[in-house]
Amino acid sequence: MHSPYSLGMSAQIVSLPSKEPGHVEKLIDEAEVLGRVDELADEIAAAIEGEITLIGALKGTFVFLADLARALDRAGKPVQIEFLRLSSYGNGKQSLGDVVLIGGGPAVGDNREVVLVDDIVDTGHSVQYAQRLLQANGIETVWTCTLLNKPSRREVDVEIDFVGFEVPDVFVVGYGIDYAEKYRSLPYIGAVQ
Ligand code: IMP
Ligand code: MG
Repeated sequence: MHSPYSLGMSAQIVSLPSKEPGHVEKLIDEAEVLGRVDELADEIAAAIEGEITLIGALKGTFVFLADLARALDRAGKPVQIEFLRLSSYGNGKQSLGDVVLIGGGPAVGDNREVVLVDDIVDTGHSVQYAQRLLQANGIETVWTCTLLNKPSRREVDVEIDFVGFEVPDVFVVGYGIDYAEKYRSLPYIGAVQ
């Protein structure tokens, strides 16, 4: 059902302001991200018949979800929006393993199709946790969508219905995604060295 784009390893080096240690390597530029988000919206609109509620996993999806929601609207599929906030990382690059829900869960009306939206699926623990949480709250079918997929790091078997891009095993930032709370406002996807 999905046709994720694979990324080549050729990337452009982008300088950061001198205060920043290291650098960010540009992986996917803004226009390519936005083009793919439009395509994802078309894929979702074609695959799902009923009315959709997008559930974004905070904080990393706040930019992607905003663009995806508007692309779905343009595709003739207005959506409702909810969020849930999960945490599995501290301020480092390594997952702390256990996923926890911070704050309350999302409210979803009856007879709506739910699409869980994540920024990046890495080990798969977060998506699996969120999917089980929603199912335990009476949502039988939970569609899954991620902007980025890092299949090489998967630890649990999760099915992702809609994938934007497959990325290599690098630590990505930008377009809402952080490293130690930095880089969320970058308009493109980069890799932290
Ligand atoms: P998972 O539970 O290991 O699949 O990781 C999911 C979450 O970890 C993502 O939603 C991100 O918030 C975070 N994460 C995983 N890989 C990266 C990365 O390369 N950069 C930034 N955050 C990441
Ligand atoms: Mg996340």
